[in-house]
Order: sequence, then structure tokens, then C-alpha cells
Amino acid sequence: MNNKRAQWGSKLGFILAAAGSAVGLGNIWKFPGKAYEGGGGAFLLIYLAIVLLLGIPVMISELSIGRASQSNVVDSFRKLGYRGFSWVGWFGAIVAFLITCYYSHVGGWVLRYVFSYITQPQAVYADPTGYFYGLLGYDAATGATFFPWTAILFAAIFMALNAVIIIRGVESGIERFNKIGMPALFIILLILLVRAVTLPGSEEGLRYMLSFDWSKVNFHTVLVALGQAFYSLSLGMAIMITYGSYLSKDENIERNSVIICITDTMVAMIAGFIVIPAVFATLGADGVGKGGGFAFASLAGVFRQMPGGVFFGILFYLLLLFAALTSCISLIEGVVAFLTERFHWQRKPTTIIACSVMFLIGCVYTCSQAAFDIKGVWFDLANGVSFPIFGDAMEFLTDRLMIPLGALGCCIFVGWIWKPESAIAEIEQNGIKFGLAKPFRFLVRFFAPISIFVILVASLVFGTTLS
Ligand code: PHE
Repeated sequence: MNNKRAQWGSKLGFILAAAGSAVGLGNIWKFPGKAYEGGGGAFLLIYLAIVLLLGIPVMISELSIGRASQSNVVDSFRKLGYRGFSWVGWFGAIVAFLITCYYSHVGGWVLRYVFSYITQPQAVYADPTGYFYGLLGYDAATGATFFPWTAILFAAIFMALNAVIIIRGVESGIERFNKIGMPALFIILLILLVRAVTLPGSEEGLRYMLSFDWSKVNFHTVLVALGQAFYSLSLGMAIMITYGSYLSKDENIERNSVIICITDTMVAMIAGFIVIPAVFATLGADGVGKGGGFAFASLAGVFRQMPGGVFFGILFYLLLLFAALTSCISLIEGVVAFLTERFHWQRKPTTIIACSVMFLIGCVYTCSQAAFDIKGVWFDLANGVSFPIFGDAMEFLTDRLMIPLGALGCCIFVGWIWKPESAIAEIEQNGIKFGLAKPFRFLVRFFAPISIFVILVASLVFGTTLS
């Protein structure tokens, strides 16, 4: 659009930022529980196949669309000459917006836990579940509910941190933060892995994660794995198109995509091999929870049982914090890049307004937790169903519906409209060779769109009865 468009300062900077976007709460907060429910090893295999056959081609497609168009997610399709596909971009921007609303609040809870572990671990230890409920506005002892102002306050701080980094811009804000955050994350991850697998009794959890319980697998599991993989790779929405648009023409998109996908998947697997064995070793198999509270309520119980628990607890929540920040930044950048370029708004006020709006909507999420898990704060209208299902509805709408649809749109666009040849030409510039061009063409034209479509439809039709 203009030649002042931002660019990444270095190769490593881009990889770390893209991996930072991918590695997030999805890997550490969502993945282990889903892997457990999906049958351990069986789920891991399905997940791996999805990343290899669908994730990598879609990642390559999104980065090439972004770099070819040098544009935000909505305008990129128009820039390439296909206005009719702008809906894929709109979808992306809307999904990023919706996800940020709740993501920033969970980030706030994580920040609260980092503080709690540093300043008053005994309070968490005394009653891990009660502490978590208390954060969300429910007093388990008396049954009273109240406004969860601590959680809201920390969400506001978390959002403000994001805004500060985004306002500084692509290179000196986003890239610089990721260069610190990502290495820190890897180091913490490895320390925790060693701790978890050396706990007495962790073998059973390891065995579970390596066993293949296919009886738990159905269409629904496959859709969950698909939604989880795309969510985890930050695909099917504004992000990788936006990040690709800041990429210089002599970057190797193919190699970068493979590195980002492998890194993200490794982190998810390692998180699974930390969380599940640690839970088995301390709380037993029944301790593996499903809901969003698992990383908070149950894991606090895990750290309580573990030698050196406070130390490892601080590390764990710091890990989550870095992961959440680097991802949330990318979500907001997707929204902000779109708004500033589309409407020619200034970066700073746009960031502040967008962050405030998303934060406020997210308050519904935090406030509705107590109503959902236990009973009403605000939204427990006559003990009925109301906003308490906000979190679940959100996950269904974004992870299971809009993200697969956005990814499908992207495959159809690259496979049939813009054509794989254009993506290949975009990738093969400045003497770069696209070694996987042949499989890419096949996957993006046939395999990926057909399988995403089949999984989506099958699961919507049979999913509820089979699950
Ligand atoms: N990939 C991130 C995670 O795993 C979440 C995310 C989704 C970030 C979409 C950006 C865009 O937590």
C-alpha cells in the first residue's frame, strides 16, 4: 500500500515472532487436556497427521498471500485481484477479535497466578480449587458470589502490557519482545519436563500418553484435533497473512513454515508430557480435568504435592505468561493492522481503542465463569442458561466453525482461484527453491480442502451424537 510498510528486522526475529504467535495458551492450557480426552497417543497421532498434511500447506499459503499482497488480511485478497474472497479476511479479522476478548482475560488470570505464587503461595496451596473460584467471583465456603474484580484488574494489566508492545511497532515492539520471551519459554519448558518425568508415579501418565486408545476416537475427536491444530498454529485467521506481509522477499517461506509448525507442535507435545504425567503422579488419573480451570485449579494442586512446588509453580505460570503474551500480541496486531490500513487510522489510538473494547467484552467471559461452573454472579438468570455458556459457545464458534471455514476458504483461494503456481512463484524468488512444490500443489488443491470440508460436515452432522 505504501513503501513505509513495516518489516521484520531479521530472519530470527520473524521466526521467533511467528512461533511466539503459534505457541500460546493453546499449547499449554488447552492441548494436554484435549490429548487426554482424545485417547492419549491416538490423539497425538491424529494431531501430527493434521499438522503435516493440513497445517503446513495452509501455513505456506497464508504466509505467501500476505507477502505477495503486502497487505492486511482483508485487503490482501482484493490486492491480489479477488475482491470476492475478502470474506475469508473478514472472517479472520473477526475470529482474531473474538479470540482476543477471552484470551486477554485468561492471560490476566495467568498474571494473577504469577503474582500469587511469588507473594502468597500458601494461599493458593491451602485450597487450590477454592482459590481459583475465588479469583472468578465465587466463595466456595459460603456459596456467595461476588464481582471478580481481581481477575478483571489483572486482565486490564495484561491487556495494557500488550498494548504497550503493539504501539511500539512491529520491529521494536513485537520482534524485540519475542526475542526475549521465546528463549525464556523454551528454557522453562525443558526444566519443567525434567521435573515432571522424574516424579515418582509419572510413568503411568507417560504410558497413557503413549498408548493408543482408539475407542475414544470418533469424527468429533478429529474435528477437535483439527480445530486445536489450526488454533495452535494461529491459522485460519488474520495472523499469518498479516505476519507474512511484513516478510522480506528473500525469506524462505517453505522452510520458515516447516520450522514454525514443528516448533509449535513440539511445544504442545512437551506440554502434554509435562502436564499429564505430573497430574497422574500427584493427583491420579481422576485429577485430569477438562475445562479451562484445569491449568489453574488442578495444576496448583499438582505443585502443592511436588518437591520444590513453589519454584516450579512460578516457572510454570511464567511460561504460560510468556506464551500468552506473545500470542495475544499477534492476535491484536492482526486486528490493529487491519483497522489502521483499512480506515487509515493512527496506530496508537487504534490500539488503545481496540484493546479497550476487546477487554470490555472479555469481562463477560470472566464474569460468567462462576455462573457456569458453579452458580450465578450476573448472568445466572433464573438458574437458566444464559451467558454462562459464553466460553463454550466461543470455542465452538471460533475453533470448530470459523477457523476451519477460514482455512477452507484459504485453500480454495490458493488451490483454485489465485492458483498454486502464483504461490509457488511468490515463494521462489531471489533464487529460493520450493522443494515441496509438488506435494504442496496436491495438498492445497485437493487433500486439504476436501478433508477440512468432510471433517467439518461430518462432525456437525454426527458430532453431537457420537461424542
Ligand atoms: N496459537 C495461539 C495458541 O496456541 C493462539 C492464537 C490463535 C494466537 C490465533 C494467534 C492467533 O494459544
